Order: sequence, then structure tokens, then C-alpha cells
Amino acid sequence: MKKDKKLRRSGAVIMAKLILLLGSLAYIMILAVINGSLGFICAMGVTLLGAIGIAKALGETIAVSYGLIIALAVVCGVLRGLLRYLEQYGNHYIAFRLLAVLRDKIFGALRILCPAKLESKQKGSIIAMITSDIETLEVFYAHTVSPVCIAFIVSLSVFLFVGFVSSWYLALTALAGFLVIGIVLPIISSGRLKASGVKYRGEFASFNAYFLDSIKGIRDIVLNNAGKRREDEVNRRSDILLMETKNIKKNTSRAAALTELCVSVFILLTLTVGIILVTGGMLSVGRMIIGVVAVFGSFGPVIAISALPGNLTQTFASGDRVLDLLSEEPAVTPVINGEKIDYKKLEVRDLSFSYYGRTEVLSDICMHAEKGEIIGIIGESGCGKSTFLKLLLRFWRKEKGEIAYNGLDIDMVDTDSLLDNVTMVSQSTYLFDETIEDNLRIAKPDASRQEIEDACRMASVHDFIKTLPDGYKTEVGALGDNLSAGEKQRIGLARAFLRASPLILLDEPTSNVDSINEGIILKALKEQKNKKSIILVSHRESTMAIADRIYKVKNGKMTEVNKV
Ligand SMILES: Nc1ncnc2c1ncn2[C@@H]1O[C@H](COP(=O)(O)OP(=O)(O)OP(=O)(O)O)[C@@H](O)[C@H]1O
Ligand SMILES: [Mg+2]
Repeated sequence: MKKDKKLRRSGAVIMAKLILLLGSLAYIMILAVINGSLGFICAMGVTLLGAIGIAKALGETIAVSYGLIIALAVVCGVLRGLLRYLEQYGNHYIAFRLLAVLRDKIFGALRILCPAKLESKQKGSIIAMITSDIETLEVFYAHTVSPVCIAFIVSLSVFLFVGFVSSWYLALTALAGFLVIGIVLPIISSGRLKASGVKYRGEFASFNAYFLDSIKGIRDIVLNNAGKRREDEVNRRSDILLMETKNIKKNTSRAAALTELCVSVFILLTLTVGIILVTGGMLSVGRMIIGVVAVFGSFGPVIAISALPGNLTQTFASGDRVLDLLSEEPAVTPVINGEKIDYKKLEVRDLSFSYYGRTEVLSDICMHAEKGEIIGIIGESGCGKSTFLKLLLRFWRKEKGEIAYNGLDIDMVDTDSLLDNVTMVSQSTYLFDETIEDNLRIAKPDASRQEIEDACRMASVHDFIKTLPDGYKTEVGALGDNLSAGEKQRIGLARAFLRASPLILLDEPTSNVDSINEGIILKALKEQKNKKSIILVSHRESTMAIADRIYKVKNGKMTEVNKV
């Protein structure tokens, strides 16, 4: 099993993994980088052409007319806008396409992790991941990758241009500036920002989870008069969040100020070197002006990099969490292309299981179920009855022993085929915010209205649905949480009847149902039994009365007991 505490990935690893996710969109990113670099060079071109004009006026031999210089400056200005637009368009196209792809991947990952791993995951933190973490990655794809490439290309071009056209001393001064502002400063500030970025994202996710949990459990909070304590905790957590935000802002502004200071220092330095070169007779005034102006205008891309760490640390923290989920090992992997089955009988031999390698919940249990049998399972709360049913559905992977359908071990059975053959009504039924009919149809999308009504009659819920304002078309959302536990349970049962699988697992199917309705349900179960196997978990003796054979679970062992 995976350890709870894991090493955090380094920024470089996260960045590399996120870039790999680009896949076939990489060529658009390259286009965006080319457009961005050319766009910036055009922007510099406007001032540079002005400097060339001045150099020409100062007597420098420049083989272009003033008219052409002005015309080129205008062209540069117009192109700048167009190229910048194309760059931004490309970046955002990639970013939002990728976010859609990533969301899809996350849902895919959740589907495989479900249901075992998700039982223990905080729902709020998953919601935070699907919403805000993914949004944060937009910053990475739209505002990080291409600025870094653009800064590299533009800085190199300026270095070569100034070196060849003006002076290599000026070029080297500029290079030192690029390195300090584009590499040294971001490294220093990211070191400072990383811890608070990671902490902020972590706090943010846990705050979301806590808040959502509080809303879902508001009834129990009120019942236990725990509102004040819960509110204090929400306030405490939101204060921590606020403090982290302030921390990040403070550090970001400090880094921005330092960058501006460095830019000014390097501009002054370039100018000083230029003046020294001119007074020493090593450079003409005209070429000095061209070189210095080129350097002055070239810090934009490295300033953009310098501003990245503030966002980037958060992006990396989000990226790390998303990558974590994508790489999380599921407790069970679905069997694809396995053997298809047509359920006839179930045999369990020497089955043992524990959650995460802790104490065994079930050890060496044996049982069997034939078609036409109703098998009862009894045992104290927490003894492992629901766990046993989940193992029969391969929600968790068995540790030892055999669960054989028609003699074939469960690990060989195709997961889709298994779910077609085995249906479970769990202890709590989830109703989606759709109509009652849609909620039933999830079990069989192409069911006719007659089939749906028949299933509901068997589950003794048809008459109740008829009393609802729009009958089967009533929106569950409109009922709020007003459906009683028994009504929900019976809708869950109706789903199972509708699904008509040959093996039905019922986890306390009548625990919330009165004896009249229980009678109707049990009668329906009995009528179905010759075509199916039914495994029934229940505390109730009245429910167990319909069982043909009964197993009792105690201390991890399962033994067949005589009916009373
Ligand atoms: N996802 C899980 N991770 C870790 N432990 C779990 C998990 N689900 C259940 N358990 C533990 O396994 C044991 C058996 O739980 P199970 O739900 O199977 O009991 P049960 O017999 O169905 O109880 P009840 O009659 O109350 O429904 C319990 O001690 C429970 O705390
Ligand atoms: Mg249970």
C-alpha cells in the first residue's frame, strides 16, 4: 500500500510532467513562442529604428533612408500588435484545451479510484482540485512556458545584435542583466515564495473540504449545538488563509521591487559602459545610442519571468496535487477484456481481507450461493458484512482465497460483465439531483415506463411516488432532503429490481422500512428468487425469515447457522 506521506516533486519535475501533458498541442505552443518573440522584437524595433535615425543624423553611415526608417517603424508597430494577439490566442487556446483534457483525465482517474479509494478521500479536496487547482494550471500553460522561451530568444537576439552592431562590452553588460533578472532573482524569490505557495494551496483545499463538510453536516451540528465551535474553526482557518495570502502578496511585491531596482541598475550600468567606450574612442556616439537603446528596451521578457514565481509556486503546488491524483494507484484496477460470465453460482473459499494491511476484517471464510437461493448474512455491527458484499463486487481486492463465479475467480472476470451480473443495494442510496424517473433509469437507461413502475411496485415505493406533485417526473432537488430514509432505500431497491441482475446483494434492505412495506418487499424478493441468487444482510429476524440458509459473521469468521 502507498505511504501516506510522500516526497514532494521538485519544480522542474512538475514543470516537465506538465509540459509532457501538452502532447500534440506542443506545436501550437511553438507557434505562440515564435509569434511572441517576433512581437517583442518588433516592439523593440520601434525605439531601435528611432535610435538608428538619430545615429544617422549624428553622421553614422547607415544605408537606409529616413523615409524607410519611419516606414519600418510603422510596420513594426502594427506587427507588434498582431503578433502579440496571435501569441496570446495560441497560449490561451492551449491552456483551455488542456484544462478540458485535464478535467477529463481527473474524472477518468476518479472513476478508477472509485469506489475504494474515494471512500476515504475528502470530497471537498476533490472538488477543490477539479475547480481551483485546474484553473491555476491555466497560469502555467498560458503565462509561463512561452514567456520563458520568449525571454530566452529575445535576450539572445539582443545580445547578438548589440555585440555585432554596437559593442561586445555593452552586449556582455546586458547579458549580465538578463541573467540576474531572469534567473538569479526568480530563484531567490521562488525559494521564499515556495513554502507559502504550497501552504496556501494546502490550506485552501482543506478549508474547502472543511466548509463543505460543515454544510453537509449542518443538521448534526445544530443537533449537537456545535455551531459556535464550528464557526470558530471556520474563522480560524480563514484567518490562516488570509495570513498566507498576505504573506504571498508581501513577498511578491518585495520581489517586484527588487526586479525594478535591478533593471534600473543595469540600465545605468549599460549607459555608463557606453559613455566610457565613447570617451575612450572605442565606439562612435551613433552606435553607442543604438546599443544602449536596444538594451534599454530588452528587459521586458526577463521582467515577465521575474514576476512568475509568485504565481508559479501556487501553480506547482496545484500541479503537484493534480499529478498526485493522476498517478495514484487504485486499490483495484478494472479487469478489461476478462472472461464474460452468465451467473449461475457463487463459491467463496478461504477468503481473507483487511483494509490497508491492518487487522483482518474477514479471515478464511467459505460460503456458497446457488441460483434460486436466498442467503442471509447476520452479525454484529462492524463485523465485516458490508465489506464482504463489496468484495463480491471487487470494489476492493481480496487478499487471499477465492471468490468464484461459475467456478471462475473474480480477478479473471471482466468488470463490466461482473457489474452486469451482480447488483448491490448499499446501506445508503444516493439520489441524483434529477427526476425520480431519471434516478431509476440509471439502473437501466432504456427501461420502459411499465418496467420502471413494476420495479417500484416490487420495492413498495410506487404508491409513494404517485403522491408526489409530478409523480415520476418530480425533481429530487425540489424535494430537498425531504425523502425519508425508507423512501430512499426503497428507490435503491427499485433500481436493483430494474437492473434485474441474476445475483442481488442487499445490505440491510429493510432497515428503514415498516413491517407492512417490508412484507411487500420480501414477498417480491421471494417471487424473484427462482431466477436469481439473493444475498441478504440484515439484523432483523423478520427479514431473515425468507432466507433459505443463513451465515453468521463473528470475529472475522463466517459460519453457517441453523434457522431459528
Ligand atoms: N474504507 C474503509 N477503510 C478502512 N476501514 C474500513 C473501511 N470500511 C469499513 N472499514 C472497517 O471495517 C470493519 C467492517 O466494516 P463493515 O462496514 O463491513 O461492517 P458491517 O458488518 O457492515 O457493519 P454494520 O452492520 O454496522 O453495517 C469496520 O471495523 C469498519 O470500521
Ligand atoms: Mg454494513
